[in-house]
Amino acid sequence: MQSLKSPPRLIFGEEEVVLDGEVFERGKILKKDFFSTNVLLHREGQTFVMKISHFNFYLGRFFRPVARYLSQRESDIYRRLQGVEGIPYLWPSVGRNFFLHEYIEGKELTDYPVAPPEFFDKLLKVVRSVHDRGVGYADLSKRSNVIVTPEGDPFLIDFQISAATRPRIEGLRLLNHWLVRIIQREDLYHVAKHKRKLAPEEMTEEDWSRVRKSPLSQLHKFLLRKPWLLIKRRIYPKGSDEMRKKSRSMS
Ligand SMILES: Nc1ncnc2c1ncn2[C@@H]1O[C@H](COP(=O)(O)OP(=O)(O)O)[C@@H](O)[C@H]1O
Ligand SMILES: [Mg+2]
Repeated sequence: MQSLKSPPRLIFGEEEVVLDGEVFERGKILKKDFFSTNVLLHREGQTFVMKISHFNFYLGRFFRPVARYLSQRESDIYRRLQGVEGIPYLWPSVGRNFFLHEYIEGKELTDYPVAPPEFFDKLLKVVRSVHDRGVGYADLSKRSNVIVTPEGDPFLIDFQISAATRPRIEGLRLLNHWLVRIIQREDLYHVAKHKRKLAPEEMTEEDWSRVRKSPLSQLHKFLLRKPWLLIKRRIYPKGSDEMRKKSRSMS
């Protein structure tokens, strides 16, 4: 992870946000929960999402280093994926616990009962390009992390729990690569699973073989994903999706 020697200068005003001298107009809050706030910022006809990580719960301030770590980890992954089609642009100035990325006009895949034609071929291409850069996405079970543009193209957002290969951790390299590969396989499983639900007539033999879970991906589910969801639900019992809908209807 790239450490921040001199974080950018941020002035977070009621109406404006100034980041290293660049002025952004504040827009609505997309989502706010105990883990992070996503706020829209506008500048010269462009819209960005500022994702601020703050553990906003009782005694949460004691976990500030964790919030910073997660935020920097996520922006590092966005940086690694810059230039990949289907990944939002990352604003170069990254803070200790926040970053800005391009707002993608569109709807969440959650809002689609039926996917646009060939959508899953395009999504698979994005996911494979992410894998080619050494990243395992890990959060594809949530369709809210896939944005569908009005043209029917997919964008992936939210890399908070993703994992990336790290060439520098020598002794652990094999383990690290092995874990990333397991996560990548899980990603492909989730693409096929969503396809089965939203575009069943487009399912291929390969897709059917992916939805049959392997023992390794079952292991990943029980060792990593389930414990993570349990912790999240303990701190935030109602679930983040409900909160999002609430904050949307309030804004
Ligand atoms: N770059 C973006 N473009 C469009 N919508 C976004 C973007 N970033 C976040 N959102 C919206 O905000 C929601 C929450 O953002 P996300 O990064 O997934 O946060 P969380 O880690 O809390 O799930 C998304 O499901 C999406 O609706
Ligand atoms: Mg999300």
